[in-house]
Amino acid sequence: MATRSALINVMAAACLKAARGLKRDFGEVEQLQVSVKGPGEFVSAADVAAERVLKRELTKARPNFGFLAEESGFQPGRDTSHRFIVDPLDGTTNFLHGLPHFAISVALEHEGKLVAATVYDPIKDEMFWAEKGLGAYVNDRRLRVSARRNLADALIATGIPFRDRGDHAHYLKTLAPVMRATSGVRRWGVASLDLAYLAAGRFDAFWEFDLKPWDIAAGLLLVREAGGDVSDMAGGQDMLGTGSVLAANPTLHDALRRLFAAT
Ligand code: IPD
Ligand code: CA
Ligand code: CA
Repeated sequence: MATRSALINVMAAACLKAARGLKRDFGEVEQLQVSVKGPGEFVSAADVAAERVLKRELTKARPNFGFLAEESGFQPGRDTSHRFIVDPLDGTTNFLHGLPHFAISVALEHEGKLVAATVYDPIKDEMFWAEKGLGAYVNDRRLRVSARRNLADALIATGIPFRDRGDHAHYLKTLAPVMRATSGVRRWGVASLDLAYLAAGRFDAFWEFDLKPWDIAAGLLLVREAGGDVSDMAGGQDMLGTGSVLAANPTLHDALRRLFAAT
């Protein structure tokens, strides 16, 4: 049985508290699909409420830490070396459409390095968590990235830009070679869970552009602690700054780097 530190217990408990409200609201959203107004405003209220619960619970336990949260932005703490990076509802579009695949993502950064992570899926009751140097877990089970070595056998997760977001033409140039080389591409709409599933060996690789720090901070640590490699799309380590991510087991990370470089 995995032993969770006091810090992970605090982060996981905050996620579980926020999840109660989200689950209740998700039930309502399913009813609202048929209303003319749609569930849009209701979902933003659910999102904001979940962030409030997370910040309240985390502040109770670690009063001096700062925050970078999707809805309320950067809030420096008295302890300037620590900040929580929070996405109260990752997968808003799924939630809005009644698709039962979304998550709460919380990471802790210490002196600019990711040191702890929780990604909680309230519907499947899966708590993914990791601590720097101590491994990655789902509930009490240790995680390892997959051992697949050939792109031809690999299942790849991605995020596809939509509306006016991102560079559609550039994205399509990266998609085409992956379609040709692999067993398939999935777009599940929750970057934090894409990375958690990669850590769990369910997906073999993941790439996406134009992500925000709260979409990926927790997931990046999960992948690293499960033995995976993460980089930005240029091969550097500025994932939070550039918003681009390429993550995979080490063999497939190399293979995908070469594939993208050749496009
Ligand atoms: C989104 C999800 C999605 C990704 C988008 C994000 P949100 O976050 O992580 O997978 O493709 O770029 O914005 O808006 O649902 O919190
Ligand atoms: Ca998000
Ligand atoms: Ca969000």
